[in-house]
Amino acid sequence: MKIFITGIAGFLGSHLAERLIGMGHAVVGCDSLLGGELVNVPAEAEFYQYDCRDFNAMAKVSRGAELVYHCAATAYEGLSVFAPAMVMDNILTGSVSVFSAAIAGGARRIVFCSSMARYGTNQVPFEESYDPRPQDPYGIAKVAAEAALRNLAGVHGLEYAIAVPHNIIGARQKFDDPYRNVASIMANLMLQGRQPFVYGDGEQQRCFSHVDDCLSCLLAMGLTERGLGQVVNIGPDEEFISINALFRLLKDITGFEGQAIHLKDRPQEVKNAFCSSARARDVLGYRTTRSLDDGLRDVVGYIRKVGPRKFRYHLDIEIRTARTPRTWTERLM
Ligand SMILES: NC(=O)c1ccc[n+]([C@@H]2O[C@H](COP(=O)([O-])OP(=O)(O)OC[C@H]3O[C@@H](n4cnc5c(N)ncnc54)[C@H](O)[C@@H]3O)[C@@H](O)[C@H]2O)c1
Repeated sequence: MKIFITGIAGFLGSHLAERLIGMGHAVVGCDSLLGGELVNVPAEAEFYQYDCRDFNAMAKVSRGAELVYHCAATAYEGLSVFAPAMVMDNILTGSVSVFSAAIAGGARRIVFCSSMARYGTNQVPFEESYDPRPQDPYGIAKVAAEAALRNLAGVHGLEYAIAVPHNIIGARQKFDDPYRNVASIMANLMLQGRQPFVYGDGEQQRCFSHVDDCLSCLLAMGLTERGLGQVVNIGPDEEFISINALFRLLKDITGFEGQAIHLKDRPQEVKNAFCSSARARDVLGYRTTRSLDDGLRDVVGYIRKVGPRKFRYHLDIEIRTARTPRTWTERLM
């Protein structure tokens, strides 16, 4: 089957492409390379450096694809209150452009990667039946894109599924981006012998998902009838961890001996954010096979292999106020 993957040079998109190619599918992918790297794209994939917001380009490259995985996004939740125009334009316009092109080109199904940011300050663990309550422009754009997908699917008879990954970790995750991926940022700094930063009291609770465990769910959503027309949280609901405890685990793994630098909390950062996996278990047969320790070791092993890097401040901050984190305005990383 011909499968189109957006964001194929990114973390999730590249792993997904690799698996689908391994299963014998013909994979076509696009990526603007805003956040991803060309080296991540499997050699067997047909690759186009296009921006999803370019409808004509999407129509050209997705034509004839039966299945579309829309993974591309500026997944910058914390930054999104300081660069809302960039984040929302990219996610909302980009998503609608991909959906529209795919439907026009005859796609049968779209699997959309939404985000846990859709739940905002709902009670944890987040369940799919909750009304979305996004707290930042990133989450708002994801919820709007979900609504657009449901609407277009209803009108045009398209099959769709909405995956809600959360805090995925593993090899190939970008670690030199100062705006996202807390575990990778910490590991990159520690491997350089530099102190990581913790926002607020560090007692925010999260739950990390190994990329391998996410892939089986995404494959089931695309290739089987399970999960059709549903929102499904993707990842474990065990091994909850605070950011302070994450720092301690990474200290053990990297051998870093210093302390973290505590900064004031970030606006709109949700204190406790983790999902229930009950629906994923029921509908997709989800099982956690990789532990948190495994995942963090993969992150550190990958950074060691390719070499720690300086951080690249590659995005413009639109709103600079006293609330903008110093890590970004003063380029502390
Ligand atoms: N990684 C996580 O923990 C996580 C959690 C929740 C949701 N998600 C969602 O899963 C998807 C994949 O995330 P990821 O971690 O692989 O992110 P990633 O940044 O590694 O990959 C996203 C890719 O999309 C590309 N991209 C961004 N805007 C684009 C555009 N307009 N046109 C074309 N390409 C564009 C980037 O260059 C990047 O390669 C995203 O939709 C993200 O919102 C990820």
